[in-house]
Amino acid sequence: MDRTVVLITGCSSGIGLHLALRLASDPSRRFKVYATLRDLRAQGPLREAAQSRGCPPGSLEMLQLDVRDADSVAAARARVTEGRVDVLVCNAGRGLLGPLEVQEAGAVGSVLDVNVAGTVRTLQAFLPDMKRRRSGRVLVTGSMGGLMGLPFNAVYCASKFAIEGLCESLAVLLPPFGVHVSLIECGPVRTAFQEKLEGGPGGALDGADAETRDLFSRYQRHLERIFHEAAQDPEEVTEVFLAALRSPRPALRYFSTERFLPLVRMRLTDPSGRSYVAAMHRAVFAEEPAEESAADLGGPALGPPPAALQ
Ligand SMILES: NC(=O)c1ccc[n+]([C@@H]2O[C@H](COP(=O)([O-])OP(=O)(O)OC[C@H]3O[C@@H](n4cnc5c(N)ncnc54)[C@H](OP(=O)(O)O)[C@@H]3O)[C@@H](O)[C@H]2O)c1
Repeated sequence: MDRTVVLITGCSSGIGLHLALRLASDPSRRFKVYATLRDLRAQGPLREAAQSRGCPPGSLEMLQLDVRDADSVAAARARVTEGRVDVLVCNAGRGLLGPLEVQEAGAVGSVLDVNVAGTVRTLQAFLPDMKRRRSGRVLVTGSMGGLMGLPFNAVYCASKFAIEGLCESLAVLLPPFGVHVSLIECGPVRTAFQEKLEGGPGGALDGADAETRDLFSRYQRHLERIFHEAAQDPEEVTEVFLAALRSPRPALRYFSTERFLPLVRMRLTDPSGRSYVAAMHRAVFAEEPAEESAADLGGPALGPPPAALQ
């Protein structure tokens, strides 16, 4: 039986690395995984983990693929010996944290290039063949930051909102071709994401006014609290990718956690945005955690307080 050929971007760490391992070591042995990395010098952790997990020979291959470079994407595609990719996982991404006014143009451009244009480049490289073969699955790592605006994450959220529009548009078009697009919407996940933020960990603050700096400190305390309470391990998130992959009729969105669905619903039920903006502002910037009550968010039906996520 032909194996399912999977190509994943951004496998040096985090979700991409764990998904590559999970599929390559699947007991069914039905996956051939091309784990791609921006820089192959970073392949050590994946290689070592594959050895210790006992991934069967030939189940996992590493390729260089920088989503900012169309030639690199094309070269990776050419190295897929099966001549086809059944499942494409667009996972590569980078964060950017801090007040918008102090973000350097280079950093803004780089995050948009990786997260938005990079995903477009990858899709452009692989979709035509899927359409021609009238078969294919596309999984894209989405974020709560693509479903709701988060303070100090404006550019990152802009990039992830763009991904929502990109995927939703393709999901409408592609079913007649037998191609299905799904977003795996992640809440906070314990990965290297915070350390690998564009411009370095901690976020850019130089040049921000005192009041904004104070709000940023509150945001950071909130983020720590939310990670402490709600962060998932990448292994848990990869199971959601598998659920999407196994579905005979894939949905557009899968959620790694239900914790933030009340906020997603709030944005839809009050399209003016007033409820969401007020609730998120209170949740992030309230002086005391006790102020973040369910009542503050519009009633118990809204569930636990919201979080600022990636
Ligand atoms: N962690 C979270 O809380 C969270 C929440 C929601 C969504 N997400 C999304 O999940 C995805 C994976 O992130 P993660 O949490 O697993 O963090 P991560 O460990 O930092 O992984 C990000 C991966 O993207 C790669 N990447 C960055 N720029 C690239 C480029 N130009 N070309 C190819 N690969 C590139 C990184 O490679 P290098 O190491 O070489 O830079 C790394 O392998 C991202 O799209 C992120 O937005 C994360």
